[in-house]
Amino acid sequence: MSTVREIFETMEYGPAPEAPEVALEWLKKHEYRFRPFIDGRFQDAPDAPTFASINPRNGQPIAKLTQCGQAEVDTAVSAAAAAFPDWSSLSGHLRARYLYAVARQIQKHSRLFAVLETLDNGKPIRESRDIDIPLVARHFYHHAGWAQLLAEEFPGYEPIGVCGQIIPWNFPLLMLAWKIAPALAAGNTVVLKPAEFTSLTALLFAEVLQQIHLPAGVVNIITGDGSTGELLVKHPEIQKLAFTGSTEVGRIIRQAMAGTGKKLSLELGGKSPFIVFEDADLDSVVEGVVDAIWFNQGQVCCAGSRLLVQEGIAGRLEQKLRARMETLRVGDPLDKAIDIGAIVAPVQLQRIEKLVEQGKSEGATCWQPSWAVPQEGYFYPPTLFTNVEPASPIAQIEIFGPVLVSMTFRTPGGAIELANNTVYGLAASVWTENVNLALDVAPKLKAGVVWVNSTNMFDAASGFGGYRESGFGREGGKEGMYEYLVPSWERILSDEAKPENSAPSEVELNRMPLVESDEDSFEPGIDRSPKLYIGGKQIRPDSGYSFAVTDASGKYCGEVGLGNRKDIRNAVEAAHKAAGWSRSTAHLRAQILYYLAENLSARAREFENRLAVSPGHSPEQAKREVSKSVERLFYYAAWADKYEGRVHAVPFRNVTLAMPEAWGILGIVCPAENPLLSFISLIAPSLALGNRLVVVPSWRFPLIVTDFYQVLDTSDVPGGAINLVTGDPDELGRVLAQHDDVAALWCIGSKKLSEKIERDSSGNLKATWVNFGKARDWFDDGQGQGTEYLRRAAQVKNIWIPYGE
Ligand code: NAI
Repeated sequence: MSTVREIFETMEYGPAPEAPEVALEWLKKHEYRFRPFIDGRFQDAPDAPTFASINPRNGQPIAKLTQCGQAEVDTAVSAAAAAFPDWSSLSGHLRARYLYAVARQIQKHSRLFAVLETLDNGKPIRESRDIDIPLVARHFYHHAGWAQLLAEEFPGYEPIGVCGQIIPWNFPLLMLAWKIAPALAAGNTVVLKPAEFTSLTALLFAEVLQQIHLPAGVVNIITGDGSTGELLVKHPEIQKLAFTGSTEVGRIIRQAMAGTGKKLSLELGGKSPFIVFEDADLDSVVEGVVDAIWFNQGQVCCAGSRLLVQEGIAGRLEQKLRARMETLRVGDPLDKAIDIGAIVAPVQLQRIEKLVEQGKSEGATCWQPSWAVPQEGYFYPPTLFTNVEPASPIAQIEIFGPVLVSMTFRTPGGAIELANNTVYGLAASVWTENVNLALDVAPKLKAGVVWVNSTNMFDAASGFGGYRESGFGREGGKEGMYEYLVPSWERILSDEAKPENSAPSEVELNRMPLVESDEDSFEPGIDRSPKLYIGGKQIRPDSGYSFAVTDASGKYCGEVGLGNRKDIRNAVEAAHKAAGWSRSTAHLRAQILYYLAENLSARAREFENRLAVSPGHSPEQAKREVSKSVERLFYYAAWADKYEGRVHAVPFRNVTLAMPEAWGILGIVCPAENPLLSFISLIAPSLALGNRLVVVPSWRFPLIVTDFYQVLDTSDVPGGAINLVTGDPDELGRVLAQHDDVAALWCIGSKKLSEKIERDSSGNLKATWVNFGKARDWFDDGQGQGTEYLRRAAQVKNIWIPYGE
């Protein structure tokens, strides 16, 4: 037996087990057998096979679940579709009452939820009890509020319909809440598939829905593995899919849904940097690292898995970290004094082991505490790698386990470069006592969330989601609500825009330059063959070819350069170099948009004359289009310095800044109709927010845009901020979709092209905005302009800044 003195010195914890009885009784009551929850009840699926849910603490099965197949998926989607009309037409207030009731029930049954989650997932009870479940309740409260305020806060938007939702196993009930709460608040109905390893709390949640008498079919829960998920993804009756999980599956889903016209949001993997500057408070940093990478066994998409340390303090921090790691406790997740629980499943444990072995074999130094993890169950010790090459697999691949890789940097610039040296962009932590440095670094990090002197903080009021291959779309906050809404105007658009954006005439190659002639004067005109506009200069197309543009009657009226893949690459490079535009002040961008309007207006006659010969234009219509284009430039100049972020009211001692950030390089493919106005309507909002553009103008009548080069030249638009490549939208749009340096792509064109763009963009998972061949009225201010364009021109970054001692 230990003496008091020994205990005082070792500070050894005694066991503090949480009683599992309440959860075990619940499992027993169900005879350890669960059916999918469809149309308000747990339905038998006699033909469906079953599979076991395992307790990762000991590898023992705790329940049998149904592997839902086509029949169950069909029934669930039909139930959700049948429930949609009534649910979506309920008042916001009535939907708020249901969401409030869910929040209250979660709180009342919080202990049962927490224990069940820990039994099923292996996470420490301390985390399920103090973090997961309270956040679930908070999400439903917060979204009860959005339901109540829907009409007032989202005028002109409507629910989408049936939403398919697929969630992972790392935060089973919390991910369910992140998906279901906004979907219901917005008036949608849901079919949700939990991860096969962790479905039990979702089924307990279904019982809560029965208790509060949520109308049948509004929420349906189907269990099964990835093949069930695939059936849901491909179901023709879902109108939106929200997915959280691996980047690999996210990419498969992007491809499977291409061209279907369904909305998609993806929250995928990460390899988030945890940056420590030499003036940081190292003891806080150590506790921060514990929360960053050993919270939930490191099975966190935004885990701070790359420790980036300023050189001068690397040795000291490593020493402190090792000492702290030695005191971490791995063991029974139901023990309240445990820091690290069990890994969810053998397959995940093997993946971690394999990647760690790979790291060792590549020469990185691996350090683990002296003690051993329990033999029974799926446990892995906290692990630190030093001497890591930034390009090595352990520094690049998401390990999704308690494994930290550490690297050093010298300067803030070096830190940013190292931090952004990943395909992901979910989150980042910045540690320094210098607020100027923190706020200088935060916007430069390519990540959807940045925590200053803190890490892994979440709240329903603050959006969460990634940049780059971490996916697109946001969950939480106002921006998260938009993922479950659609602008009403998009719903009323007619099919296939006219005129088609086809080639103006046979593309004629190798021809002598034609000369404009003035029929009255008998004199040949002066040849004017606009080229491409790249980096602020007119550049000959790489192909050396141009194509003839004809007027409405088919008569030749000019020639423009025929751009190709290489021209797009050059244009992207020019846009890349023009990074200064994204950093310029909103005031400057507004001024330049006003200047564009002024110069366009000064040359209105010239543009009117040009438009008057384009297909579908009378002189009056041409006049109207030029005038509307000037007005639209004014509209976005007005917005440039008014489209602002928010400061979220999160329940911590924190300022959380939600900042709309330009994508960086945005590709735009313009349609044929109203070739000037549609062009202006697309470039103005994206320039206003600081994007650098690579634009493919109308294929049918590009001359109106090539005339615009001179307006750009005289309006102080910096070279490279807008680049114009004329040519075939089909070819050039697809090159933009495949280009890794293009962060987002808008394409207004045919249905077929929309599909190709969505499919081709799955490489770097860029956000796309396509029209599926629908025609919009560019003159209508409800369709041709508005904050929806600005919202699509930016992504929101949330920066968390704590205050207080
Ligand atoms: P996963 O991406 O396969 O699973 C996530 C969810 O997607 C589960 O519900 C699964 O059943 C479903 N799913 C799987 N294949 C599908 C398909 N073809 N169509 C539709 N749904 C499908 O992730 P997994 O295999 O469990 O974990 C593998 C790795 O993925 C982890 O080691 C980790 O690196 C990463 N991951 C990342 C997560 C995140 O939150 N970012 C969460 C889970 C895993």
